[in-house]
Amino acid sequence: MKIYSITEKNYKDKKVFLRVDFNVPIKNGIITDDTRIVATIPTINYLLSQGARLIIASHLGRPEGKPSPEFSLKPVAARLFEILKKEVKFVPDCIGDEVKKMVDALKDGEILLLENLRFHPEEEKGDEYFAKELASLCDAYVNDAFGTCHRKHASVYTITKFVNDIAGGFLIEKEVSALSKLLTNPERPFLLILGGAKVIDKINMVKNLLDKVDTIITGGVMAYTFIKAKNWEIGDSKIEEEAVPVAREIIKEINKRHLEFHTPLDHVIVQRVSEDATPIVTERGTVPHGWIGVDIGPQAIEEYTDCINRAKTIFWNGPMGIYEIEKFAKGTIEIAKAIANSNAFSVIGGGDSAAAVQKADVADKISHICTGGGASLEFLEKGNLPGIDVLRKE
Ligand code: 3PG
Repeated sequence: MKIYSITEKNYKDKKVFLRVDFNVPIKNGIITDDTRIVATIPTINYLLSQGARLIIASHLGRPEGKPSPEFSLKPVAARLFEILKKEVKFVPDCIGDEVKKMVDALKDGEILLLENLRFHPEEEKGDEYFAKELASLCDAYVNDAFGTCHRKHASVYTITKFVNDIAGGFLIEKEVSALSKLLTNPERPFLLILGGAKVIDKINMVKNLLDKVDTIITGGVMAYTFIKAKNWEIGDSKIEEEAVPVAREIIKEINKRHLEFHTPLDHVIVQRVSEDATPIVTERGTVPHGWIGVDIGPQAIEEYTDCINRAKTIFWNGPMGIYEIEKFAKGTIEIAKAIANSNAFSVIGGGDSAAAVQKADVADKISHICTGGGASLEFLEKGNLPGIDVLRKE
């Protein structure tokens, strides 16, 4: 897929609207993982070096269409300043007179960060009037928000109808190239590792990946949803009930296609989820009544490591349990290490899996770490995303 590249454009003296995905975790005003910010720095530096006047825009979280201090992008302006060692102006809105004034005052090589686009409900609705307002700020549009390209939102999709000069940034190019490698003649066996929560968001996409992969292994809420679909006991483990019928259909499809499919052989279980809980290991694939599965067990780690060692291509989305709690992190960390030690072409999609490879200190041994979980899964399903399609050269 060929998209317009920033390297074939001229940005001198131009007001450039750069859409990024700075949807980063923030606790008490502190950014706890800045991977998504760091990932856009090559594009930002390139545009600045070309003399652009940079208007940077992003969403943060899901503030439901109204301003809310906990979803402010202000801490991101401070982090950008630390990384770039350059002033980053900040304006507390993304449209309106004050924004226009600050944009007009920008000089070549200066940066203005706009406030959260989702403080306006029109952003998520892909509203044309709102998109026109955003477009009126700039001479050129660059999208480097890979993690949001599956959304037909105003600043990702609709805006491209109102700006002539459009292009994708370096991050988008890098993500598309790595994910396309999974879709075009991947080396086999191709292993899909599915874990984490947001099962309902992911499970329909999994259905469509069945004709691309050879082996599937599962962990986390995803695994318990499948175990429940097999009508096995899951105790009080967390599942997404509405995803169970889809999981049943997927199991049928898997059997029809003779794919290799695994739910954990054993589990780490607790009676309540807390840092001071005393976990034990079940020696079976089910979870007894009154207990909660929080990680995969040692037999599952061994079996999954074997699948990883046999694979030539791996895509991993979602942790194997509640890895944020040290006692329940072993399964996820061991999977991260096994992928890092394998000879497979490996792609990690999704914030939690990306955080897990950082935690396991193996990020540099992974072929590619995607900055978008939902976006990467949808790209694997459809081979394209709405926000990327609009950047395509005809
Ligand atoms: C993400 O974190 O996956 C992206 O930033 C998109 O966020 P959303 O799921 O709230 O649209």
